[in-house]
Amino acid sequence: MKAAPDAKTGLYGIIGHPVGHSLSPAMQNAAFDTLGLNAVYLAFDVIDLAACLGGVRALGVKGLSVTIPHKEAVLSFLDEIDPVAQKIGAVNTILNRNGRLFGTNTDYAGAVSAIEDVIPVKDRKVIVLGAGGAARAVCAGLVEKGAVVHVANRTPGRARALAEAFGLNWSSLDGIGGFGAQIIINATSVGMRPHEDETPLMDASVFRGALAAMDIVYAPVETRFLKEAGKAGCKTINGLKMLIYQAAGQFELWTGLKAPLKVMEEALTGALV
Ligand code: ATR
Repeated sequence: MKAAPDAKTGLYGIIGHPVGHSLSPAMQNAAFDTLGLNAVYLAFDVIDLAACLGGVRALGVKGLSVTIPHKEAVLSFLDEIDPVAQKIGAVNTILNRNGRLFGTNTDYAGAVSAIEDVIPVKDRKVIVLGAGGAARAVCAGLVEKGAVVHVANRTPGRARALAEAFGLNWSSLDGIGGFGAQIIINATSVGMRPHEDETPLMDASVFRGALAAMDIVYAPVETRFLKEAGKAGCKTINGLKMLIYQAAGQFELWTGLKAPLKVMEEALTGALV
């Protein structure tokens, strides 16, 4: 049984707004408990980032997850930032190193781990739909692993900006037919509850000939995008996978221990019902 918190308990948490429905406390506390660590992870609804990070330093909070809407703004409050997080322009993880706050990003490695559970990405032709923060992280991970990436977005100018930052090809959402994609990733919010009937890929024939599809949306777990991909014969990777892997990456950075993936997955699915 988990011991009660005491004077030595390490404090971790997630900052965001709103944050009341976050699934991260379930995953991280389950991981701490399984490995017998004297640590606790809480959710903090934060509006004033500067005051929050002052408090983090003053209280010695050991590590934080950062979520919407703070992933970009938090960069200017940190003492040091990992170069990839800097290039993505988003931090989802903070480590408190003796009072110095170090920001990094586990979304990009998490995205690639989720895909590579199913298919290696090196030299694969990959379409990334979307050009927001999530798409930037997914692209960073794919580029690092040697995939050939094409970015497509509703607003073409944003696709272009992302593509130029990472040296990729780009187009509007309807300009992807001739690319011959082997992996297709939805990195937009389209299809998220309560808009389950929507998909960012209006032409489902693009799935034909592809090998796998991943959605970053996890509510519902099986989106219209993934249903259509499955029907066309693609292997599908749901948004929970990326969620688990990015959380596992955070746990490993904070503790230096291997994350108990299975336990985190069970905690996540338990928290979803
Ligand atoms: P995040 O940082 O979480 O990725 P974001 O920066 O708001 O969030 O990006 C959301 C992504 O979903 C964008 O690519 C957005 O397209 P635009 O750049 O054209 O806004 C995409 N998106 C959101 N709603 C969409 C819709 N109804 N149809 C197509 N794309 C949509």
